[in-house]
Amino acid sequence: MKISSKAAPVSFQNVSKIYGRDVLAVDDVNLEIEAGKLVTLLGPSGCGKTTTLRMIAGLEMATSGRILIGDADVTTLPATDRDVSMVFQSYALFPHMSVLENVSYGLSFSGFSKAETRERALVGLDLVGLKGFDTRLPSELSGGQQQRVAVARALVLEPQVLLFDEPLSNLDAKLRRQVREDIRAIQKDLGLTVVYVTHDQEEALAVSDEIVVMRNAAIAQIGTPRQLYDAPVDRFVADFIGEANLLPCTIETVTGEQATIAIEDYRYDLPSRGISEGPATMAVRPSRLVIGAADGFRAKVIKATYVGVRMEYTLEAAFGSMFAVQDDVDAPLDVGTEVTVGFAAKGPVLLPEG
Ligand SMILES: Nc1ncnc2c1ncn2[C@@H]1O[C@H](COP(=O)(O)OP(=O)(O)OP(=O)(O)O)[C@@H](O)[C@H]1O
Ligand SMILES: [Mg+2]
Repeated sequence: MKISSKAAPVSFQNVSKIYGRDVLAVDDVNLEIEAGKLVTLLGPSGCGKTTTLRMIAGLEMATSGRILIGDADVTTLPATDRDVSMVFQSYALFPHMSVLENVSYGLSFSGFSKAETRERALVGLDLVGLKGFDTRLPSELSGGQQQRVAVARALVLEPQVLLFDEPLSNLDAKLRRQVREDIRAIQKDLGLTVVYVTHDQEEALAVSDEIVVMRNAAIAQIGTPRQLYDAPVDRFVADFIGEANLLPCTIETVTGEQATIAIEDYRYDLPSRGISEGPATMAVRPSRLVIGAADGFRAKVIKATYVGVRMEYTLEAAFGSMFAVQDDVDAPLDVGTEVTVGFAAKGPVLLPEG
């Protein structure tokens, strides 16, 4: 027997959620989640991630708008009538039940025979790498193993959508990496639709097909990890996804889709993104600053730190300071060195003001 996938797409159409009289937790969200993809909701605390997830599960009801799972309008359907499972941050295992009983729990209500339930649960445990742990109690497992049991319990139900709310936050850093890779591998193998909530940008970049960046109850940007990293739409996204230097510049000319910017005597061509001539701000990743470029603006090294795989520099230019990284650790620059700084190809992106 195999665990298979009934993966379905999820659609939010103008969905809002107001708690009580006036807490607007989700504000007119439109969102299309493709079947078989892992989509992450990423954003700072209180931006509405859990509320969005709970509305997919039916644990919260939308105040307005429509939610579809597959072709079905589930907007007013209670949680028990939706084909969705959720994995919580706290695992929520039954402490007095064995691992196998925990994984079997939901199945016993789904009309499977005793033998089928047992077989299915064992397959689920095998999938999460816990073969042979079936008779243990949750208290006899590590945190990472407990979380895997929670994942197995959700998987064996073969839900149309699998939801994760910050599933790794109780694990230490090393285990977090391992469990997130396992979740991603299982999701890809089985072709599951997964909606995954985190406030950790690195985790989001590592596991997602697509990331939905949320801010103040609304969507700030949706894109692949690469799109968000390379072309953030605004300062908030640039800052939230990876480190970014925000540099002032002047847009000298705009020709069609291309702009030429100036910093001191340095000129650089990049997409204009609809921004017109005049003072502007660019976001540049630390790794896209080229220290010692033939052509660039002037800066001075004010801090140099060796971190094993690379050098980290703080540079001071006429307009302010920047953070830069360089792979060349064998010839580090001394503090006080005067350098010319340019941009790598596809380096900076122009940001709208505001
Ligand atoms: N049951 C509730 N009653 C009233 N307000 C609520 C309730 N649940 C959440 N809120 C409010 O709704 C907003 C969004 O909360 P939500 O839990 O969705 O945020 P989140 O993005 O998951 O945050 P975190 O990263 O801290 O978990 C917050 O302002 C929160 O205080
Ligand atoms: Mg939350």
